[in-house]
Amino acid sequence: MQIELPKWYDLHVHLRQGDAMKSYIEAQIAMGCTGVLAMPNTSPPVSKVSDSGTGDGWSIEAYSTMIREAGGEAFSDIIVPLYLTGETTSEMIKTGAEKEALKACKYYPPHGTTGAQSAAPFDTYMENGVFAAMEEAGVILCIHGEEHGLSGEHYFGRESNAEEAFYQNRMPGLAQKFPKLKIVCEHITTKIAADFVQQSGDNVAATITPQHLLYTTGDMVQGFKYHLYCLPLVKFERDRQALRDAVTEPGNTKFFAGTDSAPHSAKTKATDCGCAAGCFTAGIAPQLYAQGFEETGLDLSDGKAQETFKRFLCTNGAAFYGLNAADETFTLVKEEQSVQPLETADGKVTPLPLGMGQSTIPWSIKL
Ligand code: NCD
Ligand code: ZN
Repeated sequence: MQIELPKWYDLHVHLRQGDAMKSYIEAQIAMGCTGVLAMPNTSPPVSKVSDSGTGDGWSIEAYSTMIREAGGEAFSDIIVPLYLTGETTSEMIKTGAEKEALKACKYYPPHGTTGAQSAAPFDTYMENGVFAAMEEAGVILCIHGEEHGLSGEHYFGRESNAEEAFYQNRMPGLAQKFPKLKIVCEHITTKIAADFVQQSGDNVAATITPQHLLYTTGDMVQGFKYHLYCLPLVKFERDRQALRDAVTEPGNTKFFAGTDSAPHSAKTKATDCGCAAGCFTAGIAPQLYAQGFEETGLDLSDGKAQETFKRFLCTNGAAFYGLNAADETFTLVKEEQSVQPLETADGKVTPLPLGMGQSTIPWSIKL
């Protein structure tokens, strides 16, 4: 069995910085990506639109240039969202959007994940004109939807968790105050978030990662598979089922691929006092998504099921971000592929399946 697909956009990926970036970009290209939305949680963060702006962060212009110089000139589009900090102003949004350098902004929960220490609390942007300017200028808000600063049972408990708290307590107010703001609920993991997206207007969409389609908390905890540790955490069966239902709905227009491939080398992934959040899936994400679709019971040899898969991987996200559908194609083949660690300038990075004890995956790719 094989499926020919247009090349696709990975609408949430971490390409990092420095010499290792080249390896991560090669891995994106090897899995049929025509373009990327590259996350701004670098060090320093990408917190300015252009270099003429004040502040210590990198600019979207400068980071995009780094990506192009590290092999990203092969991409038809590179979107770098602006990292929202306490220094972000409505004026930056307005002028950035006028120059067309600014297409999206990223909200991180302060200290809530890798590289989120420069973020300001959500209410800052609700009140200071930043979200208002984004709505006005048509700039997309990429949201890491987890309530920050929670601990213990409230962070991850039987009754609620940081993502559920965010979607129950923050998102209704955001949607009410800024009804036209375009929002991508990124890497959603819970039924509550999926329901929020379904019940919202066309201006609200969501990305889903391979790991959240494939695994639940039990898979991570049994044998403590730390390569599956990412944020937001994988959740429970009813949550995975809600994500699976959302992506396999034949009329789906709101849910699309954003891998959140987030490499951490062996030097930094596991340490004496904890583990860096992030799963590495570059190079194999369409294969893992196909595996996830099949695990829902969908038969990918069927033309209708292939169409549903194509919407999720190739069509919906490009349409939401206003990107052109690619002319070039790639082919997914139902043939086992072995998975290797990636050697980078920062050290060895372990792809998720290897971290789960699997050295092969059921699908492979032909470019
Ligand atoms: C990401 C990273 O490593 O940069 N980690 C992750 O667990 N997803 C940050 C993020 O997107 O939360
Ligand atoms: Zn991410």
